[in-house]
Amino acid sequence: MFAEALKRLPPAPEPIRVEEFSERQGRLTQQFRTSDILIVVAPHEAVRSNDVHYRFRTSSDLMYLTGWTDPEATFVLRHDGNDWRSALFVQPKDTLKEIWEGRREGTEGALEHYAVDEAYPTDERNDRLSEWLSDAKRVFHRSSVDAALDALVLESIERRDRKRQHFGTGPVTMQDPSPLLAELRLRKSASEVEHMLFSGKVASIAHELAMRHSHEGVRENQLQSVIEGFFSYAGGEGWSYPSIVGSGENATILHYTVNNDECNIEDVVLIDAGSEYRGYASDITRSWPIGGTFSVPQRELYEIVLAAQEAAIAVCRVGEQYTAPHDAARRVLAEGLINLGVIDQTIEEALDVETGELRKWYMHNTSHWIGLDVHDVGVYKPNGQPRLLEAGMCLTVEPGLYFGAWRPDVDCPERYANIGIRIEDDVLVTDSGPVVLTQDCPKTIDDIEAIVGQDWK
Ligand code: GLY
Ligand code: MN
Ligand code: MN
Repeated sequence: MFAEALKRLPPAPEPIRVEEFSERQGRLTQQFRTSDILIVVAPHEAVRSNDVHYRFRTSSDLMYLTGWTDPEATFVLRHDGNDWRSALFVQPKDTLKEIWEGRREGTEGALEHYAVDEAYPTDERNDRLSEWLSDAKRVFHRSSVDAALDALVLESIERRDRKRQHFGTGPVTMQDPSPLLAELRLRKSASEVEHMLFSGKVASIAHELAMRHSHEGVRENQLQSVIEGFFSYAGGEGWSYPSIVGSGENATILHYTVNNDECNIEDVVLIDAGSEYRGYASDITRSWPIGGTFSVPQRELYEIVLAAQEAAIAVCRVGEQYTAPHDAARRVLAEGLINLGVIDQTIEEALDVETGELRKWYMHNTSHWIGLDVHDVGVYKPNGQPRLLEAGMCLTVEPGLYFGAWRPDVDCPERYANIGIRIEDDVLVTDSGPVVLTQDCPKTIDDIEAIVGQDWK
């Protein structure tokens, strides 16, 4: 099943070039003073239980600046009086460790294949950094990732030594570099877009495979395994967030991840699952009837959510506020529910964020940035004003309607009991309008009905 599907994927994008990583570093140092130093450290590997670790995933900032993905890495940018120098501390080559744990690039590989001027083994980090810090005046460092590094940076700020006395050096302030990095990461380069598009294509096919595999009695975890199996089969790292596979009333729980119920023939299943490919996330939600045909109430809700999503995608345009898709989606959802008689308010009343009835059935936002993180970095309201969309920004568009009959806080209309519908795509803003990165994933009622169950006949 996977081999055939794989043929529909285009060739994987070229890896991001070393020069691009250098350019990213340059865009950052342009904002620095020559007396600044930047440190970006990988998180520690986390213990799952006893001597087993969770699969390691490095920090997106480190990936963004270097492309380095192995653990125990620290990246440093400093000015040596003539020029900016980049350095990477990495696990050194070590045959015994490599026999057990896997091959390492080591310092040699770091210098040869990555955008760094210098590479050192990790055990030299603290001594070298301590020296470099003593020449700096301001240190860009995000605390609480690596306690030993925090202590080193603090010590460098508190140190009262000859250098500080004679030359006035030694950092006096520490600043979190995350906001600067977030501004860079918010606008995707052409090669980043290629990766986002590929990740989106992988996830689109994975969702389609799950549609094809749907049948009465299939379990949520079985659909999950089809989707996640294809993420890996296609060569990616797996999921970019834990998959949500909810059928029946589980589809009305926004972040349901238990995923182990049997699907009933009359249920809609809602699957929110995205792949990660070379660090880049996709994030797709589709909702379909397990039996392959939407019931009339399911269809009524689906059509409203789809219209809301299309209206929201249409305003993902340069110069629009990032809130425009949310506003567009809410309006269409509210109109739809008024027309169905679910909401007995005027449109403006229904949309009121305090007293409007729409929020009973649609209680989350419509969009978030997406990139190296599924909920990617970037301030939504810089200076309190909604950010205006620019070419290169990527955001999701994910309206939904959730009629949880189990909820004590609402009177769920019987007709729509336990139907949950969300439709989510990833959208790139371009100068010529929105580009849906996940457009290969079946979405119309006709397309879905033609596909569901096809691999189970
Ligand atoms: N899967 C989480 C989200 O769609 O934001
Ligand atoms: Mn999602
Ligand atoms: Mn999302």
